[in-house]
Amino acid sequence: DGDVFKYYADGEWQKSSSGKSVSIINPTTRKPQYKVQACSQEEVNKVMDSAKAAQKLWAKTPLWKRAELLHKAAAILKEHKAEIAECLVKEVAKPAKDAVTEVVRSGDLVSYCAEEGVRILGEGKFLVSDSFPGNERTKYCLTSKIPLGVILAIPPFNYPVNLAVSKIAPALIAGNAIVLKPPTQGAVAALHMVHCFHLAGFPKGLISCVTGKGSEIGDFLTMHPAVNCISFTGGDTGIAVSKKAGMIPLQMELGGKDACIVLEDADLDLVAANIIKGGFSYSGQRCTAVKVVLVMESVADALVEKVNAKVAKLSVGPPENDCDITPVVSESSANFIEGLVLDAKQKGATFCQEYKREGNLIWPLLLDNVKPDMRIAWEEPFGPVLPVIRINSVEEGIHHCNASNFGLQGCVFTKDVNKAILISDAMETGTVQINSAPARGPDHFPFQGIKDSGIGSQGITNSINMMTKTKTTVINLP
Ligand code: G3H
Repeated sequence: DGDVFKYYADGEWQKSSSGKSVSIINPTTRKPQYKVQACSQEEVNKVMDSAKAAQKLWAKTPLWKRAELLHKAAAILKEHKAEIAECLVKEVAKPAKDAVTEVVRSGDLVSYCAEEGVRILGEGKFLVSDSFPGNERTKYCLTSKIPLGVILAIPPFNYPVNLAVSKIAPALIAGNAIVLKPPTQGAVAALHMVHCFHLAGFPKGLISCVTGKGSEIGDFLTMHPAVNCISFTGGDTGIAVSKKAGMIPLQMELGGKDACIVLEDADLDLVAANIIKGGFSYSGQRCTAVKVVLVMESVADALVEKVNAKVAKLSVGPPENDCDITPVVSESSANFIEGLVLDAKQKGATFCQEYKREGNLIWPLLLDNVKPDMRIAWEEPFGPVLPVIRINSVEEGIHHCNASNFGLQGCVFTKDVNKAILISDAMETGTVQINSAPARGPDHFPFQGIKDSGIGSQGITNSINMMTKTKTTVINLP
């Protein structure tokens, strides 16, 4: 069936013997856009076998050659940015310009990874024994970094390309094999991205991309005995994955409820611009989106007015037209967001705009005077709806931030840098941004969440290190 995109295994594009496919619904038209293969468990087993075999040889391939192939893949990826971006527009309704940016950023990430890899993996350590009590200098210890084996990469729908390569490139430079399970929405963009790695000429079996139903191959993949590490970004299914996974390293990023704390001395124009960018870019469907504004009462009216003026200027419509606000990824997501909005309405939040929805398209909405008994004070909408909670002290803001079960990022706006640092230290999040909205990038910065936001740390250097293990050889002198 020529209409169904093939999956990638053993260096070839293949049809699943299941004869089944999975439909990808375009969030804008709400009609089927593409189909991908529904791979079977047997096919996953085959992929794992060839990944294991390919990895053994890849680990022996000189580091500079691995880097060279990654640089090649990065260049090919950038050459194909238009086709890949087009898939992102159709599959996940990403605004056209942002879709191109995602691909270019991904190419840059792959190149940076190759460069960082040759530096950090090109060095080891040398230790001598007589620094520890009771020892003579009779033992020399050599350390190096060795690959883990097969890395399972599971990226989410909001960055099907970028959050795939942020797992693939560190894994490969470190000498690992990769099995990619793309999100269903975004699978075709991911397959196109994998094609760029195919064109670059990586060895057969080293990279595979299996598509299909989570119910059929999800647990089967994450519990597979051949998998030596899982790198996952997504929602709370990650919690279930971490409970089922075996004794292997996990890198997980599972969302957030990033708070924006605004002090009385803040530059309110800067804050408003960052709330718009942080809260509404890609319609709020970013784990690092600003998800609650905690503003000092004395400046709240002025800030809300400034934000409202900017909300009024956001364009709303299809991603093809590069609108600021585009349809959210699925009908169930739109229904979930609506549930949060209706709950806030019933409990008395102030609606700064009228609530409006057509299909999966939800107009941007600022909710003022949100109170802690409202669901939206705590849950992440993953949509263009932003709650504002008015606070009477900084401590109240920090308390709200820390009462969340999430702890990804947060931000604080003030001109007093000493205060900002004290607040950053008090916020129980992986990162605090001072005077800017939360964001993962630049992609070599460490990126991590605490509590339900994740396990481990990402960013290029941390990911390379995390996907390796220390190996030591001790020379015992006579
Ligand atoms: O959605 C989660 C991403 O890791 C956030 O990345 O800050 O570049 O949008 P971003």
